[in-house]
Order: sequence, then structure tokens, then C-alpha cells
Amino acid sequence: MTPQQHRIALIPGDGIGTEVIPAARQVLDAVGHRHGIGFHYEEFDWSCERHLREGAMMPDDGLDQLHDHDAILLGAVGYPGVPDHVSLWGLLIPIRRKFRQYVNLRPIRVFEGVESPLRGAVPGEVDFVVVRENSEGEYSELGGRMNRGLPAEMAVQESVFTRAGVTRILDYAFGLAERRRGYVTSATKSNGIIHTMPFWDQLVAERATAHPGVTWDQEHIDALAAKFVLHPERFDVVVASNLFGDILSDLAAAVAGSIGIAPSANLNPEREFPSMFEPVHGSAPDIAGQGIANPLGAIWSAALMVEHLGHPQAAAEITGAIAAVLAKSRVRTPDLGGTASTKEFTEKLIELL
Ligand code: NAI
Ligand code: MG
Repeated sequence: MTPQQHRIALIPGDGIGTEVIPAARQVLDAVGHRHGIGFHYEEFDWSCERHLREGAMMPDDGLDQLHDHDAILLGAVGYPGVPDHVSLWGLLIPIRRKFRQYVNLRPIRVFEGVESPLRGAVPGEVDFVVVRENSEGEYSELGGRMNRGLPAEMAVQESVFTRAGVTRILDYAFGLAERRRGYVTSATKSNGIIHTMPFWDQLVAERATAHPGVTWDQEHIDALAAKFVLHPERFDVVVASNLFGDILSDLAAAVAGSIGIAPSANLNPEREFPSMFEPVHGSAPDIAGQGIANPLGAIWSAALMVEHLGHPQAAAEITGAIAAVLAKSRVRTPDLGGTASTKEFTEKLIELL
């Protein structure tokens, strides 16, 4: 296929995943039409509901089926009665690990027209990205338990930080800062965690020398959490290990005002494998089936996908339309204080595209 043609795997998943993915697809088609980009979709019904029906989230050869797509757009998985570790380890983690999606990217913006829970968060000023290491660190399988049930019972969980793994996430973060406002903040805890975190800090200083145009600093994770709340406008690119990045990015999504807006990308920067794009929110069983889910998280994730596929202008038009629909219209879904349906909100956004 020519670069203007892309094969997209759609995995709507469960609950509102099946409502927001069609909205994102409508926006993709509209922007594709304007820019001469063809999106060719293949849809997969992999989900917790499939797990209940057929005993697995996806078929045995699921990863092979995804392999030759250019990108994966996922809604959300999660269904009452299916434990969360089943949906995570049966679908999301295998995709992230097999396809070496070692960058987890979460942009945060406070948009005009959305109320942040923070008094000090001024729309337009808060605009940063959390770059989370997505493949090693604290989320390793090394460790074990001993003396189960005895007074001497114990558990050990090892963190794994490799030079290769840390270097590649840092290079991604510094490179991203070069394309943004040129400022990296590294999340650390080298005062308390005395082996892995000083190693992380050492590699940050090393990689910084390869990116002389970027200014950088480091903050202990506890102080950094406080600064996210007190001065969210000061950040540009925040780079963090798997656990620190996981926690920081949910905090940041809350700062932005609604979980329904937050997008994420799981990137394989080398492009040997498809990358995966998904809203941060889950399947929201409490509102599923009512047609009122906020589609912006999925639509913004689609914009990240369009950018990754090499169309920055088309991607910017989508984020521009998100900003416009929030700032210039009163049409919005109930989570943002409106009365519009997912469909009405999406149509209004497309009108402003
Ligand atoms: P959730 O994100 O699904 O919902 C939390 C709250 O936010 C709910 O009140 C929901 O109605 C609201 N909400 C979320 N997205 C919204 C949207 N787009 N528009 C309007 N309101 C929205 O998180 P929760 O309730 O903890 O989890 C529900 C299920 O989703 C669980 O099974 C969980 O495991 C799964 N989940 C899946 C994720 C994924 O697929 N990556 C991520 C997070 C949760
Ligand atoms: Mg999380």
C-alpha cells in the first residue's frame, strides 16, 4: 500500500468501547477524506464478552492476526464478572509486550471550556506529556513468595532496569522534547531507592548530553506529584519508570478535568510492529449502552495514531477540532455537564473539523 493507505485493526472491546470507537472512526474518515488518506479497517470482537462466550479474550493466533496492520485502535475492555487481570493479561499486556510497545505516551491538556478540579489550572497553559516506560521497571515477573500461611510468610518483587531499556525511553523523551518546548523532567526517587534510581539518574544525565538543545531537571516522585497539582503549567515532557509513570499519568488525567478526554499511545518507535492507541478510560459499565459516553478520549487517541502514521497536519486538525468543540460550542456529553449524545457530540466536532 502507498503511504497514504493504512490498515487499521479496530478492537472496540466492551461497554462504551463499542460506542467511542465508531465515533473515532467517523472522525478518521472525515479527516482522511480531506487529506487523501485511506483508512482500511478490520474489526475484531475481542473482549471480555468474548471471554465469557468462548473462554478467551482473543483467539490463539490473535497476535499474528494483528501483526500486519499499521496500527491498532482499541476502545476499552472490562465486563462485570470477568476479573480485571484476565482482560489485562489476556489481551492488553500480550499486545504491548509482543509488539515491543515500550513507550506509553499520555498527553495532558486543560482545554478551554473544561473545568479542571484545580483552581490554578489555566486553560491553554497546561499542556504536557507523560512518557512512561512500558516494558520493564517495577512491573517485572521476577520474585516470589515463601512460607505461605506461616508467620514467616514473605514476598519479594524485583525491579528490573536495563541500560538498553532505560536509554531507549530517555532518548524517546528527549527527542519528543526537541519537537515540543525543549524541557524534560525526570521522575526519580534516588534518595530512597538506592540502586535502580541512581542508575536511572545517571542514564538521564548521560542521554541529556546527546540532546544539548533540551533543558532538563529531575524531581523526586513525591515532590513531583505535589507539583502536578500546584504548578501543572510548568511541565513539558515528564519521563518516568513504569510504576511512577502509571501513577503520574492518572493524576495528570484528573488534572485535565475528565477521564473521558484523556488519550494514550503504546508506541513501538522503531515501527517493526504496529503501535496501539486507546483512550485512558475503561468500559464504564455504569453508562454503557446509553449512547452518552464522551468520545474525545478515543478521538484524541485516533489523532495520536494519525500522527504516528506520518500525518502531523491531519492529526493537528483533529486536536484543533477537539479544542474548538469544547471552547466554541455548548454541545457536550453529560460527563462534561452537557446533555448531548455521543453521536451529537461527534457530529458537532466533525462540523468544526
Ligand atoms: P472507567 O474508566 O470505566 O469509569 C470510571 C468512571 O468514569 C465511571 O463513572 C464512568 O462512567 C466514567 N467514564 C469513563 N469514561 C467515560 C467516558 N468516555 N465518558 C463519560 N464517562 C466516562 O473505570 P472503572 O469503572 O474503574 O472500570 C470499568 C471497567 O473498565 C473495569 O472492568 C476495568 O477493568 C476496565 N478498565 C479498562 C481499561 C482499559 O481497557 N484500558 C482501563 C481502565 C479500566
Ligand atoms: Mg494506570
